[in-house]
Amino acid sequence: MLPGYSLLLAAYVAGQLQIARALSSTRVCKNIPNDNGWPSEADWSQLNNATGGRLIATRPLAHVCHDPDYDSSACQDLRDNWLLPYPHVQDPTSVIAPYFQNQSCSPFTGKDTPCARGSYPVYSINASETAHVQAGIRFAHAKNIRLVIKNTGHDLLGKSTGQGSLSIWTHNLRSIKHIKNYHGDGSPYTGAAVRLGAGVLGDDAMKWAASIGARVMVASCPTVAVAGGYTAGGGHGLLTSLYGMAADSVLEWEVVLPTGQLVTATPHNGHADLYWALSGGGAGTFGVVVSLTTRIYPDEPMVGASFSFDTNSTASRGQDGFWDAVVAVQSTLGSLVDAGAVAAYAVASGYFSVYAVAMPGTDVGSVEAPFAPIISAVNQAGVQLNVSKTAHSGFLGLFNTYLLQAVRTTPAAQITTGRMIPRSLLEDKSKAQVVADAMRFAAEQGFTMSCAAVNGTRKSAVTGSHPNAVFPLWREALLHCIWTQTWDFSAPWAEMLARQDVLTNIVMPRIEAATPGGGAYLNEANFEQDHWQENFYGENYGRLKNIKDALDPTGVLYSRTAVGSEDWVQDGQGRLCRARASA
Ligand SMILES: Cc1cc2nc3c(=O)[nH]c(=O)nc-3n(C[C@H](O)[C@H](O)[C@H](O)COP(=O)(O)OP(=O)(O)OC[C@H]3O[C@@H](n4cnc5c(N)ncnc54)[C@H](O)[C@@H]3O)c2cc1C
Ligand SMILES: *[C@@H]1O[C@H](CO)[C@@H](O)[C@H](O)[C@H]1NC(C)=O
Ligand SMILES: *[C@@H]1O[C@H](CO)[C@@H](O)[C@H](O)[C@H]1NC(C)=O
Ligand SMILES: *[C@@H]1O[C@H](CO)[C@@H](O)[C@H](O)[C@H]1NC(C)=O
Ligand SMILES: *[C@@H]1O[C@H](CO)[C@@H](O)[C@H](O)[C@H]1NC(C)=O
Ligand SMILES: *[C@@H]1O[C@H](CO)[C@@H](O)[C@H](O)[C@H]1NC(C)=O
Ligand SMILES: *[C@@H]1O[C@H](CO)[C@@H](O)[C@H](O)[C@H]1NC(C)=O
Repeated sequence: MLPGYSLLLAAYVAGQLQIARALSSTRVCKNIPNDNGWPSEADWSQLNNATGGRLIATRPLAHVCHDPDYDSSACQDLRDNWLLPYPHVQDPTSVIAPYFQNQSCSPFTGKDTPCARGSYPVYSINASETAHVQAGIRFAHAKNIRLVIKNTGHDLLGKSTGQGSLSIWTHNLRSIKHIKNYHGDGSPYTGAAVRLGAGVLGDDAMKWAASIGARVMVASCPTVAVAGGYTAGGGHGLLTSLYGMAADSVLEWEVVLPTGQLVTATPHNGHADLYWALSGGGAGTFGVVVSLTTRIYPDEPMVGASFSFDTNSTASRGQDGFWDAVVAVQSTLGSLVDAGAVAAYAVASGYFSVYAVAMPGTDVGSVEAPFAPIISAVNQAGVQLNVSKTAHSGFLGLFNTYLLQAVRTTPAAQITTGRMIPRSLLEDKSKAQVVADAMRFAAEQGFTMSCAAVNGTRKSAVTGSHPNAVFPLWREALLHCIWTQTWDFSAPWAEMLARQDVLTNIVMPRIEAATPGGGAYLNEANFEQDHWQENFYGENYGRLKNIKDALDPTGVLYSRTAVGSEDWVQDGQGRLCRARASA
């Protein structure tokens, strides 16, 4: 071919592409308020009608801190509790992650600063029935507007909010139904189960289970909902080493598809792909979950334990001795988790605290062996460990003893990054040292590290679990760690954004370099995680994307870093638009 001709051809193709892009950018953005396509008042009032009057014209939670709604005592109450989950959990649109609150209506700015809606949804449906969810999905599809699903607002990656959107608020879908003897279609599992409405909080589920002598998989934070982002994203908790991830216990998902159709997805019916995807592949993108049905397990006695040391425990060896002792613990945690334990610990300001070990056991004497390798390794590093243990008749007692106080008072408004660390790295002396050096670097940058040590191997012999989209790394990782810094609302906003930059561009690369073969837990990660498809979903991504495209070809559902979200970008005015192919 003549060079001149191919140049011409290239110019022609480029021109055609430009035309195609111009066309598509005018047609494939979702409408935001003031766009011609934005629904009329009459449209909204019809939606309100279709949802039994449960459509809320939203106001940001902190509107009571600003004129003309200023209310000093209500505002003070918000300020006192803003860093904790619960004010946000109870509100139709508020979210815990400050970055995504984006200070558009902050309780910490003056009352004469305007309260703007910013990234919060414009309308919210306070759903109490499946029909309300269906009406919301159909409306968003028909009117080409952005749809958001909010349950508790715990999401750290900005998934449960979105500018110019209609939100479906699933918090009030709170039914709990005990199924004494589950017989699923074709399911090998028969036994006790529970159907939980999407809004049921871990707290409700845990207390309900304890009341019938049972256990259910929940998050360590009791205000996280079971059937929302938690279980769909995998879901770890203090029982992970016994029953695998929360998603491993799911028997059925009751889901409103992007078309508005209600289906039940099980491992064996016509919606088996949806079952697979929703069990670990992430929420907010395949459909709106109305309920899940999950196995429950008989409650049994447990032993709880805790231990700690600090830089003073290592006498003259200070920081070096301290980190040697951390390495010693991390490389021997395998013996604990293989005994069915989960260990939750934190490292901050020269203090190492394993604040909750949860393990099966009838009395404190019955669990000595799994601690022996840890005590001896730490001893070699120069620290004499004193493990304190308590016996409990069931899971709830242990939870209340070790976690309740902490979760009630620990701020959840933070910047976060996360990493799952393969066990093989921690059990190799030199690799474990490299990992610890990166952790030490993060600590020196002022980040608190919180880890959960698990054996996430599904005990399929016990549970007969079905294949699912849980990130496969959960089966090989010993640690899931997050590095956080509490959001400082008294600091200039720009300073917190700068801290976020340090986390993403300085701390994270060090941690990643030290943890080859690692990945990140999609529910507790950095919203700026690069290569998130690979880091959050691994080898499952291709299949998940195919399922997403088949279920939602027009993109009714979008959540940041959820499967298929790479097909969308937000334009300068906050509209969600189709990403240009190969731009
Ligand atoms: C303080 C704190 C502690 C945590 N502890 C744990 C822990 O111990 N273990 C753990 O695994 N995770 C933990 N997490 C992470 C938690 O699992 C995620 O934040 C999860 O996304 C919360 O889900 P949600 O439904 O409660 O919250 P939301 O923020 O309301 O929703 C999260 C995502 O799920 C989608 N979603 C919610 N409801 C539905 C629905 N009904 N149908 C479809 N999509 C839906 C939303 O669109 C969004 O994408 C913790 C988070 C925080 C902030
Ligand atoms: C919905 O509209 C119909 C007809 O206009 C009316 O009779 C009914 O009361 C409305 N329902 C609600 C919940 O507003
Ligand atoms: C925060 O608000 C600014 C405008 O004030 C906007 O440009 C930016 O995209 C918003 N960020 C998020 C995360 O919503
Ligand atoms: C949402 O609905 C519940 C009942 O299901 C009601 O108690 C609550 O007040 C409603 N919340 C809002 C903000 O409308
Ligand atoms: C454990 O107890 C011993 C004896 O009381 C004490 O010397 C030691 O400092 C304790 N270890 C830690 C890590 O607190
Ligand atoms: C170490 O001991 C000093 C003096 O008692 C104390 O001030 C400091 O807080 C201790 N460090 C830690 C990490 O506990
Ligand atoms: C988890 O424990 C099981 C025994 O229950 C063991 O077979 C498996 O190898 C452990 N997982 C890892 C990653 O070591």
